[in-house]
Amino acid sequence: MRQRPRICDYGDSSYRQDFWEGQGRDYEDAVERLVLAKLLPPRGERLLEIGAGFGRVTNEYRMFRQVVLLDYSLEQLQYARGHFGDDGYLYVAADAYRMPFQAAVFDAATMIRVIHHFEAVPAVLAQVEQALLPGGSFILEYANKRNLKAMLRHLIGRNRWDPFSLSPVEFVELNFNFHPQYMRRQVNECGFEVRRVVPVSWLRLSLLKRALPTGLLVRLDAVLQGTGWLLSPSVFLELSLKKGSERETLPANSDPLTILKCPLTGSQLDREGDALVSPNGLRWGIEQGVFDFRRPLS
Ligand SMILES: C[S@@+](CC[C@H](N)C(=O)[O-])C[C@H]1O[C@@H](n2cnc3c(N)ncnc32)[C@H](O)[C@@H]1O
Repeated sequence: MRQRPRICDYGDSSYRQDFWEGQGRDYEDAVERLVLAKLLPPRGERLLEIGAGFGRVTNEYRMFRQVVLLDYSLEQLQYARGHFGDDGYLYVAADAYRMPFQAAVFDAATMIRVIHHFEAVPAVLAQVEQALLPGGSFILEYANKRNLKAMLRHLIGRNRWDPFSLSPVEFVELNFNFHPQYMRRQVNECGFEVRRVVPVSWLRLSLLKRALPTGLLVRLDAVLQGTGWLLSPSVFLELSLKKGSERETLPANSDPLTILKCPLTGSQLDREGDALVSPNGLRWGIEQGVFDFRRPLS
């Protein structure tokens, strides 16, 4: 593996328009929201949404007093900020492999449709582990390589990769599918306990989506989720951080500087005008209300 893992940079891509809006994915969106509602705690202080993008599912986190949206794309975050504003929300442009957060400052985290872009899974899980409070909840969605469609294609010799092998498959550059056993081992080794496993998005087929109303597909999906069979293209894990004893969360209305740190040195930051400064002089910008930790100011 290279020194630094590659990043799948969405930059100012038109992901929202090209993938979601009017693109026939109401069913996928609805089932993901349904599962989030099922797995999220009833209330909480501060949630970290990793790879939040343009904030597609951010409004599901209303039970938290503060939501911190982290993404590598400044443009996606600026769009989200235009929608959600600053009251109860904080926007952080950063690499999830190098998060700019003090230890144990979140009582929950989510990562939906994001880990499939990560070639170094243990490295990003270790970052989540350090940012969460002991006992904290982490909802992780991953793309399942051992899904029914891939298995059928494999049986008739039409799949380029083996859905039964445990190693991740990079089917397109920086797009990975994972085996359920691989993912379970990774989260366990990073200190997480698996509370619930929900197979999701069973009916992700254009033919079915055209033939049946979205509400019916969502209800059928809910039934299939109940089987627990890990043969669907998407799997949600509800994880809990095992380490240590319970600690108090910093109140949601505390200064953002109490939860942020310099991602390169790990030191506390001070605010100087429109920048955050670390003791060794590294300066980080704030771009239209988004804390920008992708690279220091020159
Ligand atoms: C497929 S989008 C999902 C967005 C959102 N979670 C959703 O479900 O609509 C993946 C997101 O992960 C972000 N991402 C990919 N690699 C990242 C990294 N290393 N650090 C931070 N964000 C990253 C991308 O910028 C993109 O916004």
